[in-house]
Amino acid sequence: MHVSNRFALIQLILCGTFGVETDEIKTISVMTGDSVVLHTGVSEINREKQILWLFGPDNPDTLIAEIYKLSLSTFDSYKGLKDRLQMDQQTGSLTIRNITTSHSGFYTAQIMNAMTIFKKFCVIVYAPVSLPVIESSSLVSKCQKTVMCSAENGPGVSLSWYTGKERLNQTSSPDLNITLSLPLEIKERNNDVYHCVAANPVSNKTTQFIFQEHCPQYTDSSHFCGFTEAVIRLVISALMGVATFAMLFYDVRSGKKSTTAHKCPSEM
Ligand SMILES: *[C@@H]1O[C@H](CO)[C@@H](O)[C@H](O)[C@H]1NC(C)=O
Ligand SMILES: *[C@@H]1O[C@H](CO)[C@@H](O)[C@H](O)[C@H]1NC(C)=O
Ligand SMILES: *[C@@H]1O[C@H](CO)[C@@H](O)[C@H](O)[C@H]1NC(C)=O
Ligand SMILES: *[C@@H]1O[C@H](CO)[C@@H](O)[C@H](O)[C@H]1NC(C)=O
Repeated sequence: MHVSNRFALIQLILCGTFGVETDEIKTISVMTGDSVVLHTGVSEINREKQILWLFGPDNPDTLIAEIYKLSLSTFDSYKGLKDRLQMDQQTGSLTIRNITTSHSGFYTAQIMNAMTIFKKFCVIVYAPVSLPVIESSSLVSKCQKTVMCSAENGPGVSLSWYTGKERLNQTSSPDLNITLSLPLEIKERNNDVYHCVAANPVSNKTTQFIFQEHCPQYTDSSHFCGFTEAVIRLVISALMGVATFAMLFYDVRSGKKSTTAHKCPSEM
């Protein structure tokens, strides 16, 4: 696992450096278990045309398949690759079924006729990312909270906190042995929904965090914070308003003069 992860990281770098900028090498990112088709661009194979398919994790130096005099062969030259290969009789294009991370690497079709042309591919196979795990409840202060999100690292993996579409923070590491962790500080009580997303170029997984659901202790009067205080003030002023209105109403009904009654001449 660690070994194939390391290969994938090396390829990520190699493909990134030499592949993306030139169109000589076509970079293809896939997920484990997927099928990949590597196209030769040949429309019709004739008797004279020979195609060699070569593969290697760092260098395409091993013959894995061949079409010659219209006959197809695959070779058992690389870990479990033969059983996954399928060549198209018409075009010589190569399909790799149920691909695994150990089949990440460089694939080349050497197409020989009157002259020889090469089709080069860099295939990067990523495992699906792990589901992020959220640990909450490390109470920093009475109105501040740190929520920690973690996920397994791997080639091309990043871990992010989002609220809605807004990304709050992101982390990644070239050290594949570590677990990625990213803290989120929530400063005040709110109803926001936070998402922790682990992603690589072929997959992503999300775990949701709602602050309120995880902080029942904040409803305690002992954990007073700005929000609670504001709510209490609002309730108190609302009660005072009701009391004032009630007194005024009582005044009018009892026939006593009040400031409001003076303003309505029709009632006089
Ligand atoms: C795909 O490959 C994996 C690992 O080699 C194997 O366990 C699994 O059975 C294969 N699945 C199919 C559908 O061939
Ligand atoms: C982002 O996360 C790092 C730790 O990985 C932390 O030091 C930093 O304060 C965070 N930034 C924000 C804006 O939360
Ligand atoms: C990662 O772990 C493997 C063994 O699990 C070890 O051989 C390797 O040196 C470690 N790599 C780093 C960068 O720590
Ligand atoms: C996660 O994957 C889905 C497709 O499965 C994609 O639509 C979405 O944009 C991805 N999200 C991120 C944050 O990469």
